[in-house]
Amino acid sequence: MKENNISLYKFDKQKFNFRELFNKFALDNIGFGLEEIHKTDIRKLVPSEILRTGEDAKQPFCELFYNIDDEFDGFNSDTSKIFIKENKFMDLYRELITEIKKNLFDDDYIVYQKKPTLRVHLPNNVSTGSYHRDSEYGHSKNEINFWLPLVDTKDTATIHIEDSFMSEKFKPIEVKYGEIIVFDSSLKHGTEINVENYTRVSFDFRIMKLLEYEETNKDSLVRKKKFKLGSYFEQL
Ligand SMILES: [Fe+2]
Repeated sequence: MKENNISLYKFDKQKFNFRELFNKFALDNIGFGLEEIHKTDIRKLVPSEILRTGEDAKQPFCELFYNIDDEFDGFNSDTSKIFIKENKFMDLYRELITEIKKNLFDDDYIVYQKKPTLRVHLPNNVSTGSYHRDSEYGHSKNEINFWLPLVDTKDTATIHIEDSFMSEKFKPIEVKYGEIIVFDSSLKHGTEINVENYTRVSFDFRIMKLLEYEETNKDSLVRKKKFKLGSYFEQL
């Protein structure tokens, strides 16, 4: 996998109905479809400034969507509100990881991100604070990144990834819902201010071979989870 720096992985949209789950959660709890959540009149959900590193994956809409499954318990700051939810996401996520392991990692044991990171890319904002390499935030260079948008993505509403190592030349990766961008975590990446007039919600996660996993005491940037098995990572 290291040879192909960026590739696409297609999943079965009927079986893995992630978009449907999130769209229903958005409609039931915000009153707008997934691509239109920015139209909410709940002002506290919409950041008034451009998101910076560290607060990006913690913005109010992300916190809200972490209520989609009880297994994200503790990720959301407002636990007083009762949400309409189906609690199906995490089971489906693990099924997807199992399938990816079978299709991309042969018979190796893998280490995967136990709970994926949710991203919300609102119009007139970014979804990640700065262009970065994940190793700058304590991640192992052996991690492969998987980026799964819940809508079709384009131009300023998608992730921009370096075209080769250290080139510092970025291009938007445009994909359809049903495709996952798979890229080497050593490639620098980031987002632009979204001028596409729709909200892009996505989630991402990391996988590496167990053989390439090294225990570390470092913490993840936003949730402060140790990059260890049973904490940030899980083995399969
Ligand atoms: Fe990243």
